[in-house]
Amino acid sequence: MSNQDNKMQLPTEGDISGRDLGNEELTLLHEVLKTGILWSVRGKYVHRFEEEFSARYGMKYAYACTSGSAAVHLAIAAIDPNPGDEVITTSITDMGALTTIMYQGAIPIFCDVDPDSYNVTAETIEKRITNRTKAVIVTHLFGIPCEMKPIVELCKARNIPLIEDCAQALDATYEGKVVGTFGNISTFSFQQGKHMTTGEGGMVMTNDPELARRMFLFINKAWGYGDPNPDHYFLALNYRMNEVTAAVGIAQLAKLSGVVKRRRATAARFIEKISNIPGVKPQKAPKNSSPVYWKFCVNIDESTAKTSLNDIAKSMKENGIFAAPRYIGKPSFECKVLRDKVTMGNSSWPFTDLSRKGLPPVDYDRKNFPGTTKALSQVLVIPWNEFYTDAHVDYIADNLRKAIMGGKKL
Ligand SMILES: Cc1ncc(COP(=O)(O)O)c(C=O)c1O
Repeated sequence: MSNQDNKMQLPTEGDISGRDLGNEELTLLHEVLKTGILWSVRGKYVHRFEEEFSARYGMKYAYACTSGSAAVHLAIAAIDPNPGDEVITTSITDMGALTTIMYQGAIPIFCDVDPDSYNVTAETIEKRITNRTKAVIVTHLFGIPCEMKPIVELCKARNIPLIEDCAQALDATYEGKVVGTFGNISTFSFQQGKHMTTGEGGMVMTNDPELARRMFLFINKAWGYGDPNPDHYFLALNYRMNEVTAAVGIAQLAKLSGVVKRRRATAARFIEKISNIPGVKPQKAPKNSSPVYWKFCVNIDESTAKTSLNDIAKSMKENGIFAAPRYIGKPSFECKVLRDKVTMGNSSWPFTDLSRKGLPPVDYDRKNFPGTTKALSQVLVIPWNEFYTDAHVDYIADNLRKAIMGGKKL
């Protein structure tokens, strides 16, 4: 408790109170600095990080990069759509997972989500498939896996590459298998607030040698390192992770199981504690899944709770719990960049690509996204952390209960 106002201080991902950073990272950082080699082209630590990461998930190839956004960019670049082709993705996600589609000349086509899990489903994806669909991206939102079986079946049947965005879901499992091993490519983020962090950073994984080769090249300005007659083979960027970042990543990866275990244990306690609060239900997860609780989301049914979502969030905030109503506030397609198609110069490319002449405009109309609208109207996002104690969990649960039972009535 803080002395002045009886508010409990919760560990936060924003600083060392909620980040598992210590001697393990320092030892490796020291080692790296002593080598004097800070770039991966000549160093060993990025390669070691990639090897340990792919080994952990039993995948053939993993490549480290500079962010989760870069990881999504790599995945799209590996699939190599033509300008104006379509990539189906979710209406609730981070903008970094969307702008990279457009940088590759493709168009984000949004599909609706299940209102209680906030995740895309095979049904919502299928409705958006056209003969221009070049990839599907699924995002395991807040650490809850998507219902993967029908999604994998759909993508296989239609021969569409499947990308899993695991930025929020490291180590989550579905039917006993870890997410990131279902699709053709998976992507990860190690930004400050993720289950493991390097401040900024990312990773891609695949079992496909051709996709792996293209991602390796895209990270390296498409320079054919190691080839007999190397050249810059195609348009690409420098997305290389550096050795210092990888040193932190290696230490963080070793701690990941512990982080996930602690988050699951405190989440289980929280689920039990909030089970009889009227109008409150945890984010829905598939039956045979084991989520990893990047955040803990609850659906608030305002009419049963008889309190508004905003009032609940306000009351929790006043008690030091930074609960956010509605997550991103509005569907991604209503953000200015997409709504007004603010892309390159005044071209609105790739939306205006000539190959799309005669096609109907992309559907960014909220009324065709009832699941998304409902999800965003009812979700309360509660920060979650591996350093929460039982006392922290009880404090959050008690405050949620108080905000509803003792709150201002609708
Ligand atoms: C689902 C998802 N995808 C992609 C990203 C982009 O990752 P980064 O911020 O590391 O670029 C994020 C970031 O939070 C994310 O949550």
